[in-house]
Amino acid sequence: MSLHLPDGSTLAYGAATASYQIEGASTEDGRGVSIWDTFAARPGAIRDGSDGSVACDSYHRYEEDADLLAGLGVGWYRFSIAWPRIVPEGTGRVETRGLDYYDRLVDALLARGVSPTATLYHWDLPQALEDRGGWLERSTAEAFADYAMVVHERLGDRVGVWATHNEPWCAAYLGYAAGIHAPGRREGGRAHVAAHHLVLGHALAAERLHAAGVTDVGMALNLAPFWPETPEAEAAADGIDAIRNRLWLGPLVDGAYDDGLLAVAPELADPAVVRDGDLELARGSADWIGINYYTPFRPAVPDPSIPVHHELDAYPGAAPVSIVVREPRTDIGWEVDARGLEELLVETHARTGLPLVVTENGAAYPDDRLVEGAVGVIDDQDRIGYLRDHVAATERARAAGADVRAYILWTLLDNFEWAEGYTKTFGVVQVDPKDQTRTPKASYRWFAEHIAGAG
Ligand code: FCB
Repeated sequence: MSLHLPDGSTLAYGAATASYQIEGASTEDGRGVSIWDTFAARPGAIRDGSDGSVACDSYHRYEEDADLLAGLGVGWYRFSIAWPRIVPEGTGRVETRGLDYYDRLVDALLARGVSPTATLYHWDLPQALEDRGGWLERSTAEAFADYAMVVHERLGDRVGVWATHNEPWCAAYLGYAAGIHAPGRREGGRAHVAAHHLVLGHALAAERLHAAGVTDVGMALNLAPFWPETPEAEAAADGIDAIRNRLWLGPLVDGAYDDGLLAVAPELADPAVVRDGDLELARGSADWIGINYYTPFRPAVPDPSIPVHHELDAYPGAAPVSIVVREPRTDIGWEVDARGLEELLVETHARTGLPLVVTENGAAYPDDRLVEGAVGVIDDQDRIGYLRDHVAATERARAAGADVRAYILWTLLDNFEWAEGYTKTFGVVQVDPKDQTRTPKASYRWFAEHIAGAG
């Protein structure tokens, strides 16, 4: 087992999941209600009307999932902790049975030679905190740091690599501006306040984890490579770039929100929101940066012939642009171009000087073909092609000097894909919703062989 980031001598490999997407058992062992339970129950919120109450039932099948990881030969498993299992009301009483589950999971991984890396917040906020204002309230950031330490106290002897948040841009802006993720609020520029509280929550937790001796605290960011169609589009898209990219790296690297960001997000210039010391605390608080990458981002000057992406609601204050999406695309409509990952890794390393991990990368495809002669095995050559190209892009970034330690695939299992429900599959293992049978796809075999060959 390793309590530290891989050393980077060769690229390490891993697979990722998230609690609400795979665990199920949503009312078991004292788990509190999460904002995703509440949001998924809202008519029309989830494409197929589903929720994560059963999902992949990994709460009960974690041994089998650990076997699948061992079969892949990955050195790392990136999972997330469900805050409502640990602190059901968000603050106060700790639920030991929730901690027991992650304790068992970590031991199951270690028994198979897989090192755990835990994400503390992959979007399942306790509903009790949302009822008190959620991430719009500073107290949620403070509660997050307390919860982080409860988890660390139990698992810290066996988990050394921690991510505080997963894709805080989504948590703030899809959750509180576009309203397409939980908690489904449309608060306009107030979402910038949520963003600051996510940054602050990270910084408060990192400070305390560091004080407890942790050396590898990071955050998984879905930064976007910006490929403007024209120089005019580049200027027009500056606000979007600021909210999607600079808002997160600025505090971590410079201890500041830049002027271009403040121009579109005046809420971040309010001293009642961003208090003295907040940004200083954030500066230097990350030991590594996680990059979740799926697709490039091509802004164009607003053009009625280009359908405006619904996520544009998620950039309050920024000038509107159109988003061009070229072919080829995956089943979820995201353009495929591995050069975006290479560029992002090289640029993020240059910007931060920090070790990087590809904390997520993968593709949704329809999975509608079977391998001839192999009963029920999905022949996902498209997913194999996607993964192969992106692993190669990661290696190119390393060759260009970016300190990338690991490539972690999204995802081990077909699972609850947030607002898309179970309609989009990203797994290298198929999960039968009727009986939870797990069947590795051709991509699972490909990844296992690639890892074995990479030695
Ligand atoms: C990312 C999420 C992850 C998964 C992939 C497809 O935005 O972090 O949970 O849904 O997208």
